Formats: sequence, C-alpha cells, structure tokens
Amino acid sequence: MKSALNLRLLALALAIAGALPASAADTVPTNRPWLDARLGADQRATLALQAMTQQEKLGWVMGWFGNDFAGKKRNPAALPLSAGYIAGVPRLGLPALFETDAGLGVASQAGKTPRERTSLPSGLATAATWDRKLAYSGGAMIGAEARASGFNVMLAGGVNLLREPRNGRNFEYAGEDPLLTSTMVAQQIKGIQSNHVIATMKHFAVNDQETGRFILDSRIDDASNRMSDLLAFQLVLEQADPGSVMCAYNRLNGAYACESDYLLNQVLKKDWGFKGYVMSDWGAVHSTVASANSGLDQQSAWEFDKSQYFGNALEEAVANGHVPQARLDNMVFRILRTMFDKGVVDHPVTEGGAIDFAAHALVSRSDAEDGMVLLKNAGSVLPLKAGAKKIVVIGAHADVGVLAGGGSSLVYPVGGSAVTGIAPTTWPGPVVYHPSSPLKAIQARAPGARVVYLDGLDAAAAASAAADADVVLVFAQQWIGEALDAVSLSLPDNQDALIAAVAKANPKTVVVLETAGPVLMPWLDQSAAVLQAWYAGTSGGEAIARVLFGEVNPSGRLPATYPASASQLPRPVLDGDPKDEKTRFAVTYHEGAAIGYKWFDLKGLKPLFPFGHGLSYTQFAYTGLAASQKDGKLQLRFKVTNTGAVKGKDVPQLYVAPQGAKWEAPKRLAGWDKVELAPGESTEVSVTVDPRLLATYDSRSKSWRVVKGSYKVLLARSAADAGAASINVVLEARTFKP
Ligand code: BGC
Repeated sequence: MKSALNLRLLALALAIAGALPASAADTVPTNRPWLDARLGADQRATLALQAMTQQEKLGWVMGWFGNDFAGKKRNPAALPLSAGYIAGVPRLGLPALFETDAGLGVASQAGKTPRERTSLPSGLATAATWDRKLAYSGGAMIGAEARASGFNVMLAGGVNLLREPRNGRNFEYAGEDPLLTSTMVAQQIKGIQSNHVIATMKHFAVNDQETGRFILDSRIDDASNRMSDLLAFQLVLEQADPGSVMCAYNRLNGAYACESDYLLNQVLKKDWGFKGYVMSDWGAVHSTVASANSGLDQQSAWEFDKSQYFGNALEEAVANGHVPQARLDNMVFRILRTMFDKGVVDHPVTEGGAIDFAAHALVSRSDAEDGMVLLKNAGSVLPLKAGAKKIVVIGAHADVGVLAGGGSSLVYPVGGSAVTGIAPTTWPGPVVYHPSSPLKAIQARAPGARVVYLDGLDAAAAASAAADADVVLVFAQQWIGEALDAVSLSLPDNQDALIAAVAKANPKTVVVLETAGPVLMPWLDQSAAVLQAWYAGTSGGEAIARVLFGEVNPSGRLPATYPASASQLPRPVLDGDPKDEKTRFAVTYHEGAAIGYKWFDLKGLKPLFPFGHGLSYTQFAYTGLAASQKDGKLQLRFKVTNTGAVKGKDVPQLYVAPQGAKWEAPKRLAGWDKVELAPGESTEVSVTVDPRLLATYDSRSKSWRVVKGSYKVLLARSAADAGAASINVVLEARTFKP
C-alpha cells in the first residue's frame, strides 16, 4: 500500500515538475508507472526498484545456465541449449533475460538439436574489412536472429586485443590495435542493440590468452593498460553504450577480474561512467562479499561457479551488513535501467520469429568478401583467368565447406555441418564446416575447366595432380577454439609440407588460408598468391570464389601483424601449461601498450606481413595530405584516386609518430577510411583524430597528456609502409580526462 501511494505521489511530482506532460501523467498506470515508455530509463528503474521485494531483487542478480551442466539440470524456464537465463518478475511486468552467445551469430550450447543460424565470418575477418558499415550490418543481422530466437541479451562484443597471436579466441575478437578494434566492435554492438537486444562488451579485461585462463594473473601497469586493452574497451563504451560488460576469468594484477575494485568500480563505473551492469563470465565468480562490493552486478550461470554466491549467501551478506543494501539496490537498478534503456521491456522478445536466411547469408557474404586479405599476388595470378582448362583444388574439405572456430561462439550451420566426426567432437568442438562449398563455387565460375579436388592427405599425389594444372588452389586450415591456444604459429598436420610440394610441382599455386589468425608461411616464396580467408562463415565458399575470380576486388587489410617467427614476439614461448589447470601463474605483459606493429616498430623487427597490409586488383594514389586543428582536435584530409583499371575499395591509413614526445612505440594508428572508387575516380577523405591517440596516460592524475611539439603524420598502406605522404603538425600541450 505504502509503496503504491509513493509511486502515485512520485508520478504526480514528476508531472508537476514538468518532467512528464500532464496527459502522460494521467495515463501512467498507477500500479506500474515504470511501464510508461515516456519516462526516462533512470526514472523507470527507480520506480520499478521501489516496487520490488528483497527476494525479487535477489532474483535479478543471479543467473542460470541454459543447458544441463556438471550434473545439474537446466532451469526449465531457460531456452534450451542457451547460454543463460535470469528470471523476470511477471507481477511487475518485468520480463526475464534470455542470454545467447555471441559475436558471430546465435550460438547453441552442445546438444542434439542445436539452433541452426547464420554465421558471420570470424571477428578478425570483420575487423579486416575496416568497414564500419559492414560491422554494423553484421551486428544488426545477428541481433535480429537473436530476437527472432527469443533472446534479449547477446553475449557479443569481444574487445580483447590480439597481444598473443596464438590466443585461441583471437577469431572472436578484432585484432591488435585499440582504435581498429574499438571502432569495429562498437559498430557491431550498435547493430545488435538496434534490435532492442542488450549487447555485452567482454572479456573485461586483459583476458589475452586461453592457456590457464581460470588461474592466470595478467600483470600490466595501469598506464600501459589504459593505452591499450582498456583504451579499446573505453572507446567501445563511448561509441556504442553496450548494456552490459562481462568481467573475465583471469586475475588482473592479483585480483580476479570479477572481484577487482580497480577494474569494475574505479575504471569502468567511476572513471568511465558506465551506466549498465557487469555480469560475470561463466564460472568467473569466487566470492560473495568481495565480488558484490567490487562492482559485480550479476552472477551468470551460477552452475559454473562453486556456489550460488549471489543467492542465499548474498541475502545473508546484505542482512548482516557485509554488503550494503544500497549496493544490492544499485546492482538491480543497473540491470533494470539497462532493460528500460535498451528497449527490452517495451519490445518483448518471443521465440519462433521469422528469419530471412537468404538475406542474412548475403550480409555474411559481404562481410566475408570484404574481410579477405590478398597477402601476395605475384605476376597477377589472381584474379583467375577465364579459359583455364584444369584447376586443381586441394585440402581443407574445400569440396564441401569452410571451417568454423570452436567454443561458445560456434554458430551451428543451417543444414548441419558439411563434415562431421573430426576430433575434438566435444567441447570446445565439434569441428564444424559451414556447408558453403568453395569447390562448387569455383566450378560454377569455370564451366569450361576440369576442376579436380584432392583432400591433400597425400602430398605426393596432390603434387602430381597439380603439375599440369593451369592453376592450383591449396586450401590450408587451422582449427582452434575457446579454452585452447594454438600450440605454435605453424599450420598443423603437415600442411606446410603439402603446400611446398604442390608449389614445387606447379608455381601457379595459390594458397587460401582458413586460419584463426596469423600463421607462419615457410613456402611463401614458392607460392604465387596467398589469400587470407579466415573462418569465412555461412557463405564462405561463395565469398572465396568471388574474390578469386575478381567478381569482388579484395579490400581486406590485416588487423594483426604476421610475425616472421615466434622469436620476434614479446613472448616467444606462451606462458602456462595447457595440461595444468591448477598451478597459478602470472603473465607479465612487459611490452605494455606496445602491442603488435608497435612492438615490431619499437624493436625494429621486420614482420612476415605488417598490420594494415592487403593488396587489390587495382591501385590507388594518395595526394594533398593536409592538417588543421579545431577545438584542440587534429583533423586530417587527403585525396584518394583509383589509378588502376578496375573498380575497388581502399583503406588509406593514417599513423602519427611523435618527434619529441615519448610514446610506448614509434607510431600509432590514428585513423582511416574505407572508400570505393571506379577507375579514375577520386574522393576526399577527412579524419578527426581522437585526442587520446595523441596523448599518454598519467596514472597519478588519472588524465591524458599531450606533449607540446612536432608530430609526423604518415598516410600509408600499412604499418610498415614508410608513407605515401607525410606532414608535420605541431600540437599544443593539453591535459584532459577521462
Ligand atoms: C565464455 C564467454 C561466453 C560464456 C557463455 C564462457 O566460457 O568465456 O565468452 O559468453 O561462456 O557461453
């Protein structure tokens, strides 16, 4: 009674204060005013919170798994084979939260009848497009499938930087550079959330390898972190406003990420002003009081943890004052606020919505095509010429499909996997191939040619079949999945020997790489061309063939440096022992913010292929690089012209190198654009540089500092390009937050 009266008084007060038009106040359902969509998310969350009992509050902060797990049966209210579920409060008209993985599409936990959905190419492929619009449309597409499948929370928005090329989850993320990663993931999150589905920025933070992920301690100093891993998260937060953040498995400088006051309270909520809620990764909670007071708002899928830390234990901790009631209220407020803010309450999801798979396959195909990186193209062997009589296709099950990465992000293909039974068949498997056959797509484009397929298991047989071919296409693959790291940077299963044998038999050998990320290429000099096709997703076979035949001019650029050898890396040998999941250890990120190309620049190392590299079937020229400064912001502009004979897309890149100031590395990516131009056509590009990319972070004052002086701006084709053009700009000293 008392609270109903309070609510009515509050609604009246708001109307009097002018926060609501009088007519709106008239129609506010007096018993459920938080359902009035004309109120702001903060007001609605406050009103709903006031109406909740303590038990209802506690219900919001602990989630359930959507599958049987470790002897525990699935909560029947969860969607089957889903990642998670949080009970709603029907009495108050507040819906449950239904959670699904993840970044490549609607995934399913292992089970007999997984959902079959559209898969985007890998996160690295999307990052390699450097195309904001494609990242957005991919996000919008998978968000629509999530909604149609009955989910209102998508655990997508993987922001971890590629510090470690062997990291088994690199394919879920967006590369090594904070600006590129944040720009692309922010667009994906915006696309997802355009469906009134909450997106999740993860795994916060410095969860940069899988080996020992539950026990390792990531060590890095605050300033370096703020200029690298944390900067990527911060920029995503500012650009996309994700509803939730998932804290990671690992510890950071000693404290578990999900009970790190520094990460959750200080950095995320205080310094950056995050208004959403923090959920734990599955099995990342280790305490009640420390987690709650350090800023964790929701325990995900408690079945993965040792205990229902945010169940009875939290109730007790609040009752005896170890966790303030205000803290519990804030946890619930954050969740409710996000639900109102992202439209989850006003646009309820229902299972069984229609999905236009044909249209979605095209969204995935555009992403895959634009993400393919033509690494090498000697003698313009590509695009493939019409009139070939014999084309030999070898390896990687290219006769039937394209490889997918394993783990929670795996999207089960419509129609099932093209290949079954390959180990591991259980988590983080099964090994899945999307049934989009490169071979069929190639044959369809070469009607006059005899297209022969060999599985590549017998290198000698492959070489002899290749010898008299007009062109040979060797598909090489590297399967990897969550919870694993690559054991080395080399292609597995003797594929290097296969490629070398084939290339020796026929110099017109084109290698198509279906890898998670960077690999070594000892056969590079012998091969004619190399196309990085990543995990190419639902329409991968078509996308590969379209690029090979020039229907699509390749325009991907590497989102990560390809080392020439593991000895060039900050950690030539990966820390930890994949077989030992008990003995705690630390990984010291001594390279600090000098990740990827920055490390290579700093150490003067020559990579196999640099960050930003990628060839085209046409050429582009850059002119007129000029700079101006407005309101303390550096603006750069220049002109790009397609000087070749075919239409194509280019990614001109701007790097800034301080002449006096000391940064973590000689230069940083400061901006880029992706432009499409017909032969002879030009366009003006203008880029505004985020001031943080011109500054260093000072931990003591918690501020960014630009040092007065001269800075060189390079307009380049990659991080190793000396610059098609360069100018010097003078920046004034400046200090700012956050
Ligand atoms: C992964 C998360 C994922 C969750 C739910 C965890 O193992 O680290 O990325 O969202 O499982 O499947």
